[in-house]
Amino acid sequence: MKDLFTPYEMMDLNLKNRVVMPPMCQYSVTDKDGIATDWHYMHYVSRAIGGAGLIIIEMTDVEPDGRISDFDLGIWSDKQIPALARIVEGCHAYGAKVGIQIAHAGRKAEDAAVPVAPSAIPFDAESKTPRELTTAEVKAMIEKFRQGVARAVKAGVDVIELHGAHGYLIHQFHSPLTNHRTDEYGQDLTRFGREVIRAAKSEMPAGMPLILRISAKEYVEGGYGINESLEFSKAYKEAGADIFHVSTGGEGPIGVGPIATSEKPGSHAAYQVPLARAIKQSLDVPVIAVGRLDEPALADAVIGNGEADLVAVGRGMLRNPYWALEAAVQLNKEADIPKQYKFGFPRTKK
Ligand SMILES: Cc1cc2nc3c(=O)[nH]c(=O)nc-3n(C[C@H](O)[C@H](O)[C@H](O)COP(=O)(O)O)c2cc1C
Repeated sequence: MKDLFTPYEMMDLNLKNRVVMPPMCQYSVTDKDGIATDWHYMHYVSRAIGGAGLIIIEMTDVEPDGRISDFDLGIWSDKQIPALARIVEGCHAYGAKVGIQIAHAGRKAEDAAVPVAPSAIPFDAESKTPRELTTAEVKAMIEKFRQGVARAVKAGVDVIELHGAHGYLIHQFHSPLTNHRTDEYGQDLTRFGREVIRAAKSEMPAGMPLILRISAKEYVEGGYGINESLEFSKAYKEAGADIFHVSTGGEGPIGVGPIATSEKPGSHAAYQVPLARAIKQSLDVPVIAVGRLDEPALADAVIGNGEADLVAVGRGMLRNPYWALEAAVQLNKEADIPKQYKFGFPRTKK
């Protein structure tokens, strides 16, 4: 029987438990240089002390105009490696493994003078109209992802996550709503994502798993659903994605324009778990479930019932860096509590 605190092994990745801190942008770079600051160091290392098994560093972008804002992390320069390596070392010292989410915001790059995208379709009426990437630029973009992954590997991460969710660039390519191209990257909507996956894998040690975060369902009217996401995920699995991190939405504005408001996400606990389970069962791949799973008994049940292999807790960990330790205590599991904090957890097993 597995539970939230059963260790997890996938290829060369070994986690002490199944609690994941998902990527969460901090918008806390100070000099617009994409370099992680002391804020990032303390933020991530606190969650390692707090018992998370895997910490995935926030959306980290492969070029300056791939950032949502100028205050996001970047991975387009070797100068960005040492600060990331310091975070990785700090987290390792407290028993957590570290991933990083490699990304490009595409048409959602708010501070770019002219954002780039598969097609010149703005996110909403207030957003800038992006410029359509030429075919040569699409190929150059794949190379930027490759180089970003190579830098992340140099920084010492244990796993790479590619951001294929929430309406960012990879998602923009595989969604029929945002990709109206006529070249090979439009004729086959998964081609860009598959080439990014292969480029990433070419820079990763053979035993390092690749996580792909996807939006398994779009919420705008006419958006894709689970059947389409099973199709594109199958193609991504064949290209080399080892673990799927199953989220939803982000492709368009909620509540305005041609939106299916009846499908508005996020109102119930565990709302994305059925999608994670569908991907896991249909494709026979490990999945990370995420989305309002910050009740320990619920997170534990998702693992125990075999719906997902790992559970990510986002906002719950923003509120409480010690979420994993407290969950272990509540669930009466052994908790790896730092000796300095033992007095704060009087009735624990260990
Ligand atoms: C402040 C904040 C920043 C986020 N930034 C990212 C991000 O960089 N990349 C990403 O894929 N998701 C991001 N998310 C989404 C979270 O990873 C997670 O999927 C979401 O918060 C739902 O999980 P929760 O209910 O446990 O918070 C962010 C969420 C929050 C609250």
